[in-house]
Amino acid sequence: MLIRNVHIENDASATDVRIENSVFTCIAPFMEPHEHETVIDGAGALLLPPFVDSHVHLDTTLTAGQPEWNETGTLFDGIRIWSERKQTLSREDVLTRAEAAITMMAGNGIQFIRTHVDVTDPGLTALQALLELKEKVRDVADIQIVAFPQEGILSYPRGQALMMEAIRLGADAVGAIPHFEFNRDYGVESLKFIMDLAEQHGLLVDVHCDEIDDPSSRNLEVLATLAYERDMGPRVTASHTTALGSYNDAYACKLFRLLSMSGMNFVSNPLVNMHLGGRFDTYPKRRGLTRVKELTEAGINVSFGEDDIQDPWSPLGAGNMLDVVHMGVYAAQLMGYTQIKESYRYATHNGAHTLNLGDDYGIAVGRPANCILLDAPNFFDALNTHAVVLTNIREGRIIAQSHSPNTVVSCTF
Ligand code: FE2
Repeated sequence: MLIRNVHIENDASATDVRIENSVFTCIAPFMEPHEHETVIDGAGALLLPPFVDSHVHLDTTLTAGQPEWNETGTLFDGIRIWSERKQTLSREDVLTRAEAAITMMAGNGIQFIRTHVDVTDPGLTALQALLELKEKVRDVADIQIVAFPQEGILSYPRGQALMMEAIRLGADAVGAIPHFEFNRDYGVESLKFIMDLAEQHGLLVDVHCDEIDDPSSRNLEVLATLAYERDMGPRVTASHTTALGSYNDAYACKLFRLLSMSGMNFVSNPLVNMHLGGRFDTYPKRRGLTRVKELTEAGINVSFGEDDIQDPWSPLGAGNMLDVVHMGVYAAQLMGYTQIKESYRYATHNGAHTLNLGDDYGIAVGRPANCILLDAPNFFDALNTHAVVLTNIREGRIIAQSHSPNTVVSCTF
């Protein structure tokens, strides 16, 4: 396959890209097609590595309004409604909804997904369904599964046993929710428990950490200390950390030293954090987001996730990382021209780093031929025009295609 005339990752110069035997074999301008070679005319469009959604919940996706709408819109009402909905889960129910979400995501150029799966369920129904889905959709997307104790580990009956069972069944990563445990001691104990599990089983870690506007929620310092002292930082992710947006600057300044030393990853979920954050404020009302800009400037890896797609925590969501990045640049005030143009990294390279994808990710000779062609010359324009993904290529195979909308305005002035 030969992709002609594309701008790779905002490069001002256009080039051609050749794919053979599922890998990139040549990147150079003005290549002539081989006999019978498939040719895609990029027409000056933007070629990116595939989008990475580094934080989503495929088990809860597409359940908004079931059994009731979250009319208050709070995180805690979301947890209450989900705990009712999950009583009715079946394998078919989870598979049907998750497959629909994966299809949406493929159309929008997402090929790498880290999904959290609620394991505070004695039957582990959703986990088993998503383990099945992971194998089924391998040609479309890579899925990492986090065993996520939505209702706590120490605060839920047999919480620790369920986490261990999830690992036995095949979870890739362990999660925790320390700020939701009954008390601070349980929160700390839950973090030690999962870090022990991760160490013993060679797993990744991704914690829903301090997803609350309470400035006294300080589980992040505990997780960072454990990651640092055990030399596990690159394998550990702190998701949400919205309380970091409410910490006083003196404490945050002291904390940043430890965060840098730990080498941990951060995930922010701008759409959902903006929606759920500041719910208990009148005015002034906080944004409810972690310190994306400051973490990035400190050299700490931050990636973005969509978190929820039409479920009890977020009634909206289309499986589109452009929506996520668009909200992210506004909410985190990444509004310089260069910051906006480079913001694709939160949904590509930074996400790949969070997921520990290694050297197989990216557009370079010798790497697996995974890439997406966006209908814009650079990412600044892609954000402004909400560009469609014209072609989604996975291991040299086209898995999704769209057409440029090409709207014609017929009115005259
Ligand atoms: Fe989440």
